[in-house]
Amino acid sequence: MLSSTALPRLDGRTILVTGANAGIGYWCAEILAARGARVLLGCRSVERAEVAVSAIRAHVPDADLSVVQVDLGSLASIAAAASALHERVDAVICNAGVKAADRATRTVDGLDLMVGTNALGHFALLAQLGGVLADDARVVAVGSLAHRFAQIDPPTLAQPWTGASLRQYGRSKAALMALTFELDRRWRGTARSALCAHPGYAVDPLTPHRDGLADVSSVTRALAALSRPLVQGKDAGAAPIVHATVGADATGGDYWGPGGLLEFRGAPTRVRASEQVRSRDVGAELWSVAEELTGVRFAV
Ligand SMILES: NC(=O)c1ccc[n+]([C@@H]2O[C@H](COP(=O)([O-])OP(=O)(O)OC[C@H]3O[C@@H](n4cnc5c(N)ncnc54)[C@H](OP(=O)(O)O)[C@@H]3O)[C@@H](O)[C@H]2O)c1
Repeated sequence: MLSSTALPRLDGRTILVTGANAGIGYWCAEILAARGARVLLGCRSVERAEVAVSAIRAHVPDADLSVVQVDLGSLASIAAAASALHERVDAVICNAGVKAADRATRTVDGLDLMVGTNALGHFALLAQLGGVLADDARVVAVGSLAHRFAQIDPPTLAQPWTGASLRQYGRSKAALMALTFELDRRWRGTARSALCAHPGYAVDPLTPHRDGLADVSSVTRALAALSRPLVQGKDAGAAPIVHATVGADATGGDYWGPGGLLEFRGAPTRVRASEQVRSRDVGAELWSVAEELTGVRFAV
């Protein structure tokens, strides 16, 4: 399991992690709580969030945790969650994500499920958190290697997707990353910063067991162990994301990921993001499209 002792103490800092009830988001929450951070678990199901809270407390008895109910696939839920938050938030990890979806599947607002949840949902959330974000707040978006094979094409984001599901997933992650780098540019001159990070290739069968979370049989674990030289558990996948959030050498506009072969596994290091997600023109155009599609103005 990942050792968090190399991380700084985080007492007094409050970090919101979306999708914290499972997988990489759960591990970000547990690792940050173990270093003394107050962690807000942003989850669509309070029941699943409470299971995660119990699992964290079983390993970090004094963990300071609260649940924030938010469905990133619902603009009404996002607005309600943002308006219910009254405490200062020092960092937000935009982790919640949908990986595979039937191309016809939409959010409750009629947006493409992956683009609407992974990218636009987080855009709408951050836009409405303005009042509680600390003066030196940090935003970390969870990207993916898949962004490198994607074309964002902002004007067509609202149109029904007809291509492969993996490409649409890559587009949703590329859009989230481009919006995050654009946010960082807009925050220049302030103490706030926005970064991206990706977990490599992180799977449940290589992840330490936590009661109530992914249930993996011992046979599956034994077979998965053979893949350990290539891929990693979700605890290790959380490392670049946690590093981007609290690492002393992480700064605005960075992109962190695992440093091993193909960036599938390994210790956190700075990695390359595509030219498209770093493009000022794409970022500015996407920002306008995101405001239009969500109906939320993000004043920065
Ligand atoms: N695993 C990898 O190798 C890998 C690689 C690259 C990037 N990523 C990214 O890393 C992030 C976490 O991946 P993971 O492997 O940990 O996935 P996971 O185990 O499937 O967990 C996804 C999390 O996102 C939450 N979520 C999904 N839709 C949501 C919504 N509408 N509102 C609120 N929460 C929602 C899920 O909550 P529910 O339990 O309610 O569904 C769950 O907590 C994702 O953004 C993914 O795209 C993962």
